[in-house]
Amino acid sequence: MRKSERIFLLNSKNKVALVTGAYGGIGRSVVEMLLESGVKVVATGRSDFRFKNNDVLHLAVDVTKENEVKDAIEKCIDHFGRLDFLIHLAGMVGSGRIDEMSLDEWEKVVATNLTSAFLMLKHGYKKITKPGGVVILCGSSNGYNGGSHLSGAAYASSKTALVNLVRYCAKEWAPDGIRINIVSPGPVDTPMLDRLTDTEMNNLRSSLPLGRIASPEECAGSILFLCSNHADSMTGTNLNISSGLVLDA
Ligand SMILES: NC(=O)c1ccc[n+]([C@@H]2O[C@H](COP(=O)([O-])OP(=O)(O)OC[C@H]3O[C@@H](n4cnc5c(N)ncnc54)[C@H](OP(=O)(O)O)[C@@H]3O)[C@@H](O)[C@H]2O)c1
Repeated sequence: MRKSERIFLLNSKNKVALVTGAYGGIGRSVVEMLLESGVKVVATGRSDFRFKNNDVLHLAVDVTKENEVKDAIEKCIDHFGRLDFLIHLAGMVGSGRIDEMSLDEWEKVVATNLTSAFLMLKHGYKKITKPGGVVILCGSSNGYNGGSHLSGAAYASSKTALVNLVRYCAKEWAPDGIRINIVSPGPVDTPMLDRLTDTEMNNLRSSLPLGRIASPEECAGSILFLCSNHADSMTGTNLNISSGLVLDA
């Protein structure tokens, strides 16, 4: 796959981002591009991976736990003095038919994808820069097209719900000068796809009009664009980066 060009945020020196899912496929690309742009980063997640950069504060955070989310945002302010970009990427996919899904699995996926966003928004709102703060959530093409047994119903439903959560907050927070948007990727080449067989991957690829699985860097580039001044008039929008899989969003 062609390596994507890097995108840099301008005028971002001394700005601070908090990224969840920072050690995942898309998260690592986002953190790297933010650092290259001079942004300081609070990287949150549960992995042992570490970015070797003094401008990163690492925090172990389970995004489904309200006390851990609240603490992370407070530590961001204590450590770096501000919060400009809140980029919530942590998520988990499900699988299987709805009649075979346990309540526990449903609740775990919804907690990880949707309730975590509520917690991030609730506690992030209190501390994010006003005016000028930017929030990005991560949806999915499954949030438009209903998904399938490869995603499970809880994943598809929670990603749809995030779109309306973004619209809600866009209206509530516009008077504060906070923008909030969501990106909705189609398949992206990250560990999240490792669960699929070669046949499933080939079928997925051939279902994409552009015939290509996106790279994490492309998704990171879209996220940095939404954080940038080029998107100053964008709030409440859902950026469709699905390789043509979804055309009527
Ligand atoms: N890859 C795709 O095809 C695709 C397509 C559409 C949308 N997306 C969305 O893109 C976002 C990033 O996913 P990715 O593709 O980069 O996959 P990934 O590499 O699996 O990253 C997901 C990250 O979320 C973290 N996470 C899951 N549950 C968590 C929890 N309770 N607390 C804290 N962190 C948690 C994971 O950490 P652990 O490793 O510790 O579990 C992992 O680092 C997700 O929201 C996903 O739904 C991905």
